[in-house]
Amino acid sequence: MKKIRIWDLPTRLFHWALALCVLGSFISVNVGGLYMQWHAYFGIAILGLILFRLIWGFVGTHYAKFSQFIKGPKAIKAYLQNPKNEAGHSPIAGLSVVVVLVFFGFQAILGLFTTDEIAFDGPLAKYISNEWVDIFSHLHQFNQFILIGIVVLHVGAIIFYKYIKRINLTQAMLTGDKDSQDMSVDEPISAKDDGNHQIKALVIFLMIASAFYYIFILRLGT
Ligand code: HEM
Ligand code: HEM
Repeated sequence: MKKIRIWDLPTRLFHWALALCVLGSFISVNVGGLYMQWHAYFGIAILGLILFRLIWGFVGTHYAKFSQFIKGPKAIKAYLQNPKNEAGHSPIAGLSVVVVLVFFGFQAILGLFTTDEIAFDGPLAKYISNEWVDIFSHLHQFNQFILIGIVVLHVGAIIFYKYIKRINLTQAMLTGDKDSQDMSVDEPISAKDDGNHQIKALVIFLMIASAFYYIFILRLGT
């Protein structure tokens, strides 16, 4: 059985860091009190991770590129009529990646303008009127249910693949590799997950991290 590299290390690190930060943001907001500070840190980290993924979608390796998995309605329809086991994201999985990035990104941006009406304000709340803070806070509260729905569907799809289609996608998101027998592609391309790409990802990540540290911690005092 041949193993093919699909998910490069930066995409895998992005994925598990995102999942951990989402978990952290839900736990910290439910503990509340002083942990609201951690909620803000997790939320801002999520924003940074999403920004990283947006850039990586253009300059990353083969299967990480948006052009590889964001498909039009025609391709989505064709896939639904005749589902194949793609090497990277299927057109439906690709659509769900866009949904995750948009809704989680939206939530993190809203959070910057949100208040808990007790002791904690998002770092940009002081720059807009109380009416807008109220609107953003309500949207931030409401959007959490959409996010929970997305995660339930996401994990549900992974379980469906594992137990019904007998394909372990999680293994690939952990190790980067898929078995060639799990793909209905004759000659799958291997992602070039080499040192050059990893250094490029590290540079992008460090640029985002230092810009966010400067803006949110040093300038806005989060
Ligand atoms: C994607 C990232 C984020 C997620 C998943 C998230 C999730 C949540 C959730 C589930 C709540 C509880 C809402 C409720 O039922 O009361 C909440 C509240 C809150 N979040 Fe976030 N949040 C995120 C980002 C942020 C950021 C970046 C900030 C600020 C820097 C922030 C500030 C707040 C504040 C101040 C509240 C309290 C609002 C209230 O009590 O109504 N959040 N967030
Ligand atoms: C809060 C939790 C989670 C979020 C927000 C999330 C988000 C995402 C995102 C954005 C992607 C696309 C990866 C990319 O191309 O950059 C993805 C893919 C994936 N995720 Fe998650 N994820 C979460 C939890 C999990 C969990 C718990 C598992 C496994 C048990 C998992 C397994 C996978 C797998 C296997 C893929 C690749 C799917 C495919 O082959 O098309 N995720 N996830």
